[in-house]
Amino acid sequence: MIKTVRTVDELRKIVRGWRAEGLSMGLVPTMGALHAGHMALAARSLETTDRTIATLFVNPKQFGEGEDLESYPRDEQTDSDKLGQAGVHLLFAPDVDQMYPANFSTGVSVGGLGDVLEGTYRPGFFDGVATVVSKLLNQAGADRAFFGEKDYQQLQVITRMARDLNIPTVIEGVATIREEDGLALSSRNVYLSAEERRAAPVLYQTLMQVASRVKAGDDIIELENWGREQVLAVGFSSVDYLSVHDAETLEAFGERSRPGRVLVAAKLGRARLIDNVPV
Ligand code: PAJ
Repeated sequence: MIKTVRTVDELRKIVRGWRAEGLSMGLVPTMGALHAGHMALAARSLETTDRTIATLFVNPKQFGEGEDLESYPRDEQTDSDKLGQAGVHLLFAPDVDQMYPANFSTGVSVGGLGDVLEGTYRPGFFDGVATVVSKLLNQAGADRAFFGEKDYQQLQVITRMARDLNIPTVIEGVATIREEDGLALSSRNVYLSAEERRAAPVLYQTLMQVASRVKAGDDIIELENWGREQVLAVGFSSVDYLSVHDAETLEAFGERSRPGRVLVAAKLGRARLIDNVPV
C-alpha cells in the first residue's frame, strides 16, 4: 500500500528526509481517475528519479461554471492501488481547505499563452491550473515534474510559468498514450456512449492527416477547414478549434521552418475531447 499524506507539513517532512539521504525526486500532478496516460508519467518519473510523489487533487479553481467539477470521476482507493502497484513512493492527496485556506487570494496567470485556444473557451482555466501547479511545485520542491503532451497547451503554460517564476523544478513533457485506434486516453472518455466511442478516433486520424499535409506544403487555412468538416461529418456536435500553431508560442503557424503543432477541441455527446500532434 502506498503511503498517503494530506497536509503540506507532512509532505515537506518526508521530502526533507529524502533530501537528507541525497535522493532525487519526481512529481506527478493528477486529478485522479488514473489511466495508462497518468501511469506513463509515473513510469517516467520512476525511471529518472529516486523517489516519485504523485498528487491527487481535483482543483476547483480550474473548473468553470457549468463544467463537471461535481461529477468529475473520483475513486481514490483505485488510484492509490494503481500507484502503489507501479512503485510510486508517496501520494499527496490534500483536501480543498489544505490547498485553499480561508482568505486565499493569490493567483498565477500566464498571459498570452494562457489566453488563446483552450483559454478562449474556458476562461480562467489556465489561471486555475497555473495557480495550483505553482503551489504543488513549491510544496514538493521536487527535482523534476512530469506533464502529458495530451494537454499540450497546459504543458507550455506550466513550462513558461516555471521559467518566469524561477521555480527550479525541471518540467518534463511525456508523449500522449493512446488506445489502439488512436483515441487519446482521458478521464473524460467515460462520458462517451458506445456509438460516440466508435466515432472518436477520427479526431486523431484527422490531426495526423492535417499534420502530414502541412508538411507537404498545403494551404493551412484550407486544411484547417477540411479538418473541421471531417470531425463534424462523423457526429461531433461542434469544433471549438482545429488549427495549426507554433509549437512553442502557440501563435498562428507562420514559418514552416519552426516546429508546429496541430491542436483540436471538439464536443462529442457529453464529452469535450482535446488532442494534438506535432508537425
Ligand atoms: P489530469 O487531467 O488528471 O492529468 C494529469 C496529467 O496526466 C497531465 O499532465 C496530463 O497531461 C496527463 N495525461 C492525461 N492523459 C494523458 C495521456 N493520454 N497520455 C499522456 N499523459 C496524459 O491535467 C491535469 O490533471 C490538471 O490540470 C493538473 C495538471 C493536475 C493540475 O490540476
